[in-house]
Amino acid sequence: MSRPKKKVYIKTFGCQMNVADSEQMAQVLAPDFVPTDEPAEADLYLVNTCAIRKKSEQKVRSLLGSLKALKRRRPHLILGVGGCVAQQEGERLLAAIPHLDLVFGTHGIYRLPELVRRASQERQLDVDLSAGFPETPPRRWPSGAAQTLVTIMQGCDNYCSFCVVPYVRGREHSRPPAEIVAEVQNFLAAGGKEVTLLGQNVNSYGRGLDEPVTFPQLLQRLAELPGLARLRFATSHPKDLSDELIGLFTELKPLCEHLHLPVQSGSNRILSAMNRSYTREHYLAKIEKLRHTSPGISLSTDIIVGFPGETEADFQDTLHLVKKVSFHQAYCFKYSPRPQTRAADLPDQLPEEVKAERLARLLDLQNDLTLAAHRRLVGQIREVLVEGESKRSKEELSGRLRTNQVVNFSGPQELVGELVHVEITEANPHSLKARWAAEPSARSRRPVVGGTPRRLSC
Ligand code: 5AD
Ligand code: SF4
Repeated sequence: MSRPKKKVYIKTFGCQMNVADSEQMAQVLAPDFVPTDEPAEADLYLVNTCAIRKKSEQKVRSLLGSLKALKRRRPHLILGVGGCVAQQEGERLLAAIPHLDLVFGTHGIYRLPELVRRASQERQLDVDLSAGFPETPPRRWPSGAAQTLVTIMQGCDNYCSFCVVPYVRGREHSRPPAEIVAEVQNFLAAGGKEVTLLGQNVNSYGRGLDEPVTFPQLLQRLAELPGLARLRFATSHPKDLSDELIGLFTELKPLCEHLHLPVQSGSNRILSAMNRSYTREHYLAKIEKLRHTSPGISLSTDIIVGFPGETEADFQDTLHLVKKVSFHQAYCFKYSPRPQTRAADLPDQLPEEVKAERLARLLDLQNDLTLAAHRRLVGQIREVLVEGESKRSKEELSGRLRTNQVVNFSGPQELVGELVHVEITEANPHSLKARWAAEPSARSRRPVVGGTPRRLSC
């Protein structure tokens, strides 16, 4: 009889890339560990960390401190820290946290089984990036998952002056297309419907591969796979967003009508100091092309306020750009100085109050724009991929439109994992309410917008 497996609990901080990495950790550990949602019963507790802003790093440190009590109650528990903070801090974490057994960096995921075995004997550190990114065998899924994240590349060579990613995730590395296609096929064979391709800058996918493949070519290959209903990707760098890629939004049926295109700032002076390699004019020209090609496309972005030297006039440029583009959603952050980055050493770092006040003004504007975009959807019939119960109420289901807005509605549990049509009935600041179109009152004669009859990330 085989031994009962031990349990692993994985706490994930940060972005979608970390969510995908945590899923990968669970998979490589699967021969010895089953995942649990209950930290108190774990034999292995892994914290997958994010170093993008100081706040995310502080949250990690405070969690690790609080885990001392759990470790005292369960002395056999192995406590490990992975991801970007582990990569950045390495040995310093082991020195600062005596109850920590294992620190593994962003390239250490595939060495986890061995590291965990050794950590039960002595503390382990694995933060070596020098060998490049290890091969990543195609993942497999249990049946029932409707949507998934597939990492297509790791690392970044862009060196935006504020960003720690190139230092903690290493040089850009693209996975071979055959591996990606095999992984997506595994997912579709398990009944999956929606795939989001992940990379720090997916537009530069393919550089350095033995078989030269561009990102548009990869999308074309994947879009042909039978059973793939929805395809998304994140994140795009505006400097590399080609006309060919923009054209695919109307050519490829599964490609969802949503693009996450981080602008970071609306001021040319600040964009240049950020080393972003585009101007606001270039950015706006790309948006115009996107809207011309795919009029219904929804656009989201990332914005940093309070970059060193940002004046009120620079910030006004950002507000104007945000109004002009009218993003459906914007992830807005106060600039946070990060170790090793060039911007951390720039003069004229702004006081916290100035950053906070600018962030509040930007959020006010964006909240109005998001609500207005939501209101424009009321009355329309749209396709939703049902992802599960709504976070707010067990009585409701929750899913996403092809254009990426969250929709909640009443319906039977059997709809989870299905593509259904709903009528949008109410616009809220962060989500939409809808009526399932199978209910008689939702069988409107209004035309279907988006969704399957036509063909459409972070
Ligand atoms: N400070 C604030 N925000 C940052 N981001 C990246 N680095 C920093 C930083 N040092 C934001 C950018 C990026 C998103 C993932 O996080 O907007 O696009
Ligand atoms: Fe960071 Fe810039 Fe690379 Fe994005 S493109 S991960 S912001 S360095």
